[in-house]
Amino acid sequence: MSSSNNCRHPFEQLRSKFTQALISAFGSDLAEIDPMVVPASNPKFGDYQSNVALALSKQLGQPPRVIAQTLLQYLDVGGICQAPTIAGPGFINLSLEPTYLETKLKDMFSDPRLGVEPLRIAKRIIVDFSSPNIAKEMHVGHLRSTIIGDSIARILEFRGHDVLRLNHVGDWGTQFGMLIAYLREAYPEALTKSDALDLGDLVAFYRQAKQRFDTDEKFQAIARQEVVKLQAGEQDSRKAWQLLCEQSRREFQAIYDSLDIQLTERGESFYNPLLPDVIADLKHSGLLEESAGASCVFLEGFTNKEGQPLPLIVQKSDGGYNYATTDLAALRYRIEQDGAQRIIYVTDSGQANHFAQVFQVAHRAGWLPDNVEVVHIPFGLVQGEDGKKLKTRSGETIRLRDLLDEAVTRAYKDIESRLNEEDRNETEQFKSYVAKVVGISAVKYSDLSQNRSSNYIFSFDKMLALQGNTAPYMLYAYVRVQGISRKGNIDFEQLGTDVSILLQEDAELVLGKHLLQLSEVLSEVEQDLLPNRLCQYLFELSQKFNQFYDQCRVLQAEEPKRSSRLALCDLAARTLKLGLSLLGITVLERM
Ligand code: ARG
Repeated sequence: MSSSNNCRHPFEQLRSKFTQALISAFGSDLAEIDPMVVPASNPKFGDYQSNVALALSKQLGQPPRVIAQTLLQYLDVGGICQAPTIAGPGFINLSLEPTYLETKLKDMFSDPRLGVEPLRIAKRIIVDFSSPNIAKEMHVGHLRSTIIGDSIARILEFRGHDVLRLNHVGDWGTQFGMLIAYLREAYPEALTKSDALDLGDLVAFYRQAKQRFDTDEKFQAIARQEVVKLQAGEQDSRKAWQLLCEQSRREFQAIYDSLDIQLTERGESFYNPLLPDVIADLKHSGLLEESAGASCVFLEGFTNKEGQPLPLIVQKSDGGYNYATTDLAALRYRIEQDGAQRIIYVTDSGQANHFAQVFQVAHRAGWLPDNVEVVHIPFGLVQGEDGKKLKTRSGETIRLRDLLDEAVTRAYKDIESRLNEEDRNETEQFKSYVAKVVGISAVKYSDLSQNRSSNYIFSFDKMLALQGNTAPYMLYAYVRVQGISRKGNIDFEQLGTDVSILLQEDAELVLGKHLLQLSEVLSEVEQDLLPNRLCQYLFELSQKFNQFYDQCRVLQAEEPKRSSRLALCDLAARTLKLGLSLLGITVLERM
């Protein structure tokens, strides 16, 4: 086996073995055929299966079983699998050879990347996530975007891609006229003082400004004037705008800090100077049309009730631009200037149409080359336990800050009662650190572990439970392994890289196979951008580890079993630690 083969995971190796066999058996015409090797649907049938014989039956004019038999004569999977078998009409079943698994696990043990190879060809990828709006509330929808986007960025970065994390903050628009007018009225000193002013709760500020706007025509006129001044770049208005942005930014940053989120802010205002060009180029390419005084592009496949094509407005009748115009400019900039090859937008599913329309217009305008992939990854709503919009008991919208604080407070209470039960004494510092990690991890994990496209029910009780598919359960599995090493006074690193791994008991085999699937799972997530698959993998890993640990003695086992089992423990722990870190979760050594 060549060394490059050595690193590849079983799945890829089997695929290429199948392709070779297909060519030898039926000719090079089949070189491009998908060998259809997939993980077995039921462990009873082995580890992998291929239905390629059934798929080729028509093309080759032979019964699938006959094709399968011929294929097996050429399929050389010795050293990887036991002799393949044919089942039913022509399914090929494959079971991995324990010695092969043992060698792979040994390789994995000495590899800091745990068998996940860095990519040979990395892509420039933009993840557009979080993206709250200035002077408006950063709500639970933004929290979902922040958590999901960050995890996706982490996974892509770990794969080796060159990722740009962009915060497309809503920092521009006509609402700033109103806000600036109100700032001048309510805090006249704000504009003369040199140091930043604390405007208090910006959401309340927004509400007051809106109320002034809605009830006073004179104020409205002033607000409109302010928009014009701001757009003209007048110094005073710009300063007021900056003040408002600065204040919001501080509030957002506090949330990012507690969630450990890295983001590059590049708000809507950044693309302002590029907006006229968007319109000019759309006009030039013949896509721009006038409708009721506004400039728009008529969309394909989007119609109104009467069946007429819907317009995407890109410039309003008063000359103003909008959300879509900015996204068109951003898309061009990201492709032309940032060199993005894949752009991922993380927002709620309510914006699905917006993105489909923007992508379509960009495509038709020729701004979206075929080798660039743009994808909107939508997510569902966050609901309270009653299935309705998440609210406080008194019916108000929940502030993110309060929500995170509550998770930590509840985690703290849980820890105290657990320590009491176990009659353990820990320092205040220990308790508050563990509470912080557990609380924040619980919020992140409960969000990530659901399929993101469904609505998601926010329940402190469920996310903080020690049992089930939760962060505490996962963190605890990790702590359990660290407990073994403390108890046996083991330094896993001292096991050395040439420790032999033996898979003799069923539970060892099951755990070993699962460990080796990490790389496959990460490639899947890289494709379909569903972090819940990684959560599911880690959850099953914890379960399989717990079964192994219940069934196999570790510290009391005889050598060479003892070292092998310790190595399996360490692999499980390192896989959990890595996997959780890709979800934005840090492990604890003790809890
Ligand atoms: N600010 C928007 C909102 O709060 C999200 C922006 C998403 N990104 C984008 N490029 N449109 O709904």
